[in-house]
Amino acid sequence: MNKHLLAAAAVFAALAGPAAAADSVKVGLILPMTGPFASTGRAIEAAARLYMAEHGDTVAGRKIELKLEDDGGVADKTKRIAQEMVVRDQVKVLAGFGLTPLAFATAPIAEQAKVPMVVTAAATSSITEKSAYIARTSFTLPQAALGIAEWAPKNGIKSAVTLVSDYAPGVDAEKTFVQVFQKGGGTVAESLRVPLANPDFAPFLQRVKDAKPDALFIFVPSGVGAAVMKQFQERGLADAGIKLIGTGDVVDDDILNKMGDPALGAVTSHHYSAAHDSPENRKFVAGYGKATGGNRPNFMAVAGYDGMHLIYAALAKTGGDADGDKLIAAMKGMAWTSPRGPVSIDPETRDIVQDVYIRRVEKKDGELWNVEFDKLVAVRDPGKAK
Ligand code: DHB
Repeated sequence: MNKHLLAAAAVFAALAGPAAAADSVKVGLILPMTGPFASTGRAIEAAARLYMAEHGDTVAGRKIELKLEDDGGVADKTKRIAQEMVVRDQVKVLAGFGLTPLAFATAPIAEQAKVPMVVTAAATSSITEKSAYIARTSFTLPQAALGIAEWAPKNGIKSAVTLVSDYAPGVDAEKTFVQVFQKGGGTVAESLRVPLANPDFAPFLQRVKDAKPDALFIFVPSGVGAAVMKQFQERGLADAGIKLIGTGDVVDDDILNKMGDPALGAVTSHHYSAAHDSPENRKFVAGYGKATGGNRPNFMAVAGYDGMHLIYAALAKTGGDADGDKLIAAMKGMAWTSPRGPVSIDPETRDIVQDVYIRRVEKKDGELWNVEFDKLVAVRDPGKAK
């Protein structure tokens, strides 16, 4: 190479350096936008876009570009999309993951590519153990179930039957509820698991009715609660004096009003209620409502909103450096005030630490809300202490 070419190469390198640094940072958001879990995708997308509308699309001088793709809730598709996003689109962060199997399928991609993977929905405890590049802004089932499992035996519930969707988060919920409820003096008569796909709750609820427990503990994923609630009412379980308890997934804020009066009185524990009384949440509920033509944000929405916050805050902390190792390091220990309350990312597990609230479904001004009346403070995922 002659002198001139060398000089030209040096100039080019000097130009390419800052130009590359100023490139946009692509965030690949993979969600079920179609299929039975599309409500999860819609909520997370709307909240992620709301966060960006409120906070602008530039962090530390770098433009954030959100790339949304629909996996239909099918794990092979999630994995393939993640691979394409990393290799072809050069995304710097993967986010979303509407169900546990979708997060499990993608973890090896994040691990190999050293690309942070922000889980905004899937809630099986072990997900964050599948790669050192995973951080989570949703919750874990053991974390949510802990609250109601402690509350129930102290509040007149001596016997229970558990009913969960038959996949990893359901098994997590069942395990924590049974262990903690029994430790508190409760008796579990039966543990039932219903298929995740096209569940028919009727025969299971009939068995619960025959067992006559004080309460039925339920976990079903977001969006499925309305069907359970309908059957619970139609089968006469409430009339038989069986209380409905569970994690908050079953009384999802998104569809609570559609469930109507059969949901009244259900006591659940969860990390988010649209009724949470704080300035941050009032702003979030109002902003989400305005952006979606009047919808109410649910726990999926708040995790999408906080997922974007975590990405923005990490990139701000690295000064705009989107290197995967630097970003995940920046996420560790991050703390902020979410619409749900104070949260942080556990630096060891990269899982979210948050308050878990005990709530009861009540009617206010003609609408149903999960009204918080007690809480456990700064709960780490109990599922990790195995
Ligand atoms: C999962 C999905 C949900 O919709 C939910 O409410 C909880 C957990 C999951 O697949 O991990």
